[in-house]
Amino acid sequence: MLIEDRSYQTVWMEGSSVKMIDQNALPFNFQIHECLTYWDTCMAITDMTVRGAGAIGAAAAFAMAQAFLEAPEKDKEVFLQEARGEIEGTRPTARNLFYAVERVFDAGQLSAENAKTEAQRIALQDTEDTRAIGRHGNKLIKNNAHILTHCNAGWLAFVDFGTALSPVYTANKEGKDIFVYVDETRPRGQGARLTAWELMQEGVPFTIIPDNAAAHLMQQGKIDLVIVGADRIARNGDTANKIGTLGRAILANTFGVPFYVAAPTSTIDGDCKSGRDIIIEERSQDEVLYQDGIDANGNKVKVMIAAPGSTAYNPAFDVTPAKYITGIITEHGIIKAHYQSISSLLKTIEDERTKSL
Ligand code: MRU
Repeated sequence: MLIEDRSYQTVWMEGSSVKMIDQNALPFNFQIHECLTYWDTCMAITDMTVRGAGAIGAAAAFAMAQAFLEAPEKDKEVFLQEARGEIEGTRPTARNLFYAVERVFDAGQLSAENAKTEAQRIALQDTEDTRAIGRHGNKLIKNNAHILTHCNAGWLAFVDFGTALSPVYTANKEGKDIFVYVDETRPRGQGARLTAWELMQEGVPFTIIPDNAAAHLMQQGKIDLVIVGADRIARNGDTANKIGTLGRAILANTFGVPFYVAAPTSTIDGDCKSGRDIIIEERSQDEVLYQDGIDANGNKVKVMIAAPGSTAYNPAFDVTPAKYITGIITEHGIIKAHYQSISSLLKTIEDERTKSL
């Protein structure tokens, strides 16, 4: 990704520090946040300084590597088990977090340096996978396509490229005429704040729509294709993604609009039989009751936007049943959201991994 002509990744490791684009400061300020310890990195995942499935996975991988670097000789095992529990406790829904922590934890049994190398490998794999998703997903995008996306599944949500937006960037670079409708994505506004900012950096034409406008646009035939990301995909194709995704999927089904999920296979949880097994994170009611922004002088402000004394319920994700999903765009190509297609892809990947050992 290029930001003001400089190449960046969303999250990376330098020495024993983890560095990341501060997503809470965007879109008003572009700044880099540094985490000196694994605990700092845990905090950055919890407060969403870094967010999005792949970026959370890479940050968690780096946090696990930091824990290996910090582990004292005495009680090393206890320290590492505790650190693993704390990292895994930061965000429960993103599959990539658990996948990454397990890989780095196993690699670290050899040495702390090996843990760090494995974490770097996960970040690199994320980049390559999402680049490939762009190539495959681009085939779905016709010239003059109007695409709806929800939340932010662009490069900010991964180490680079993104999932739902990677095909959009590939299509744009190929010179196709495209237009993106960006759901604002209440309550945190990842669409209005992050996707809009990203599309601007990439020079992709877009407009933000209120979350409740999608039905109207689809009814008017203004949307040709929906592409969203995923936080966890069950073996039967049920998909957890940002709250509001389910509504878009039902609408797309009603109005005959193709609805695609874009995600690397690291987001598929082979142990999870169906969406019923996916734990949905609940976040603070303050995210619904208040909004952050800047005032006319550019100072950060937080304002209350609900009746004082109200409470709010804030589930961060919902699960879209596989029957509403036209296909899943993975790094290996586009597959059906079915038990058989997913199982056969996971088996091919496992067979290739075993062959390469
Ligand atoms: O809570 P967030 O912002 O970390 O949500 C995760 C997401 O970014 C979305 O659900 C996204 O669509 C899938 S992950 C790129």
